[in-house]
Amino acid sequence: MGYSSTVYKSAADKLAQSRLDAEKSADRRRREIYEKLPRAKELEQQIASCGVEAARTVLRGGDVVAEMTKLKDKNLSLQAQLRELLAENGYAADVMEPHYACQNCQDTGYYEYMGRTVMCACLKQQLVACACEELNRSAPLKLCTFESFHTDSYSDVFDASLGVVPRRHMEKIFKFCKSYAQNFTPEAGSILMKGATGLGKTHLSLAIANEVIRRGYGVIYVSAPALFAKLEKEHFSRSADSDTMDTLLGCDLLIIDDLGTEFKSQFATAQAYQLFNARVLQSKPVIVSTNLTMAELEREYSNRFVSRVNGAAQKLDFVGDDLRIKRF
Ligand SMILES: Nc1ncnc2c1ncn2[C@@H]1O[C@H](COP(=O)(O)OP(=O)(O)OP(=O)(O)O)[C@@H](O)[C@H]1O
Ligand SMILES: [Mg+2]
Ligand SMILES: [Zn+2]
Repeated sequence: MGYSSTVYKSAADKLAQSRLDAEKSADRRRREIYEKLPRAKELEQQIASCGVEAARTVLRGGDVVAEMTKLKDKNLSLQAQLRELLAENGYAADVMEPHYACQNCQDTGYYEYMGRTVMCACLKQQLVACACEELNRSAPLKLCTFESFHTDSYSDVFDASLGVVPRRHMEKIFKFCKSYAQNFTPEAGSILMKGATGLGKTHLSLAIANEVIRRGYGVIYVSAPALFAKLEKEHFSRSADSDTMDTLLGCDLLIIDDLGTEFKSQFATAQAYQLFNARVLQSKPVIVSTNLTMAELEREYSNRFVSRVNGAAQKLDFVGDDLRIKRF
């Protein structure tokens, strides 16, 4: 189990940066205070020399206990004086200490618990965020938003074969997706976007991704061909340090675009089912978009897969004319 070494490295770098920032600003506050209150500097120097003196006492031997008690009292009194001086001047007692983002691990990513070193929740969170970033790097995320989606590009003439006015129908789908993104929680339902090419499935799923990412959730958007190629490569190379599957199962929202256009193999078919099933069992949402009909999905994948999707996902049927051909 684990993430790729790039993901570990960027998560560790982020924590290290946060630790450095906290230490740097503590240093800056210390310099300011030393300038304003030279007495504070003297007190801190005396506190430090108590420490040095304690080490010397131990080395010298003799009545170590009595000497150490004296030094400890001196240290406590100096600390009290420093606290008082700071308070009189309106500073908190810990003003010269670094204020770490995570109290638990002081931004190191690990802490000691019952004699063992444990990975802190803040590092785990950072790993998911970095893994999402890594997988999303190649996705055209920024271009497709709800603002740039126009429902007036769909026909407003009743289509007898569909039984709907495409524009009205697409307005409903648009509203559904927007509200889904705005109210997203990691327990939200799944969605299956179906329909012919060029009808806005990718556009709307990216718009959802943008909004959900903006709201602070971990989203992975990936096209089915890229996803299955990556999983297959990892599976057969048995590389120990990459674990795409963990990230795919761990993210808050997984978006698989263009299901059905990947290179078909038993492996991909099995993985598609595993992935969808594992997320559904954990009540974690997936958005799948495809050109295939339900019957084709059943043929290409399996009954099991389709009945899982049927039970878990809201189906959205995209209708209209190919917008890649149409002029805006
Ligand atoms: N309603 C819309 N308003 C504005 N642009 C749109 C709209 N629908 C689609 N587009 C644009 O048209 C192009 C094709 O749409 P998109 O890629 O979302 O189609 P698709 O349904 O995913 O097609 P395919 O099944 O081939 O993947 C994209 O550039 C997209 O941004
Ligand atoms: Mg598409
Ligand atoms: Zn932490």
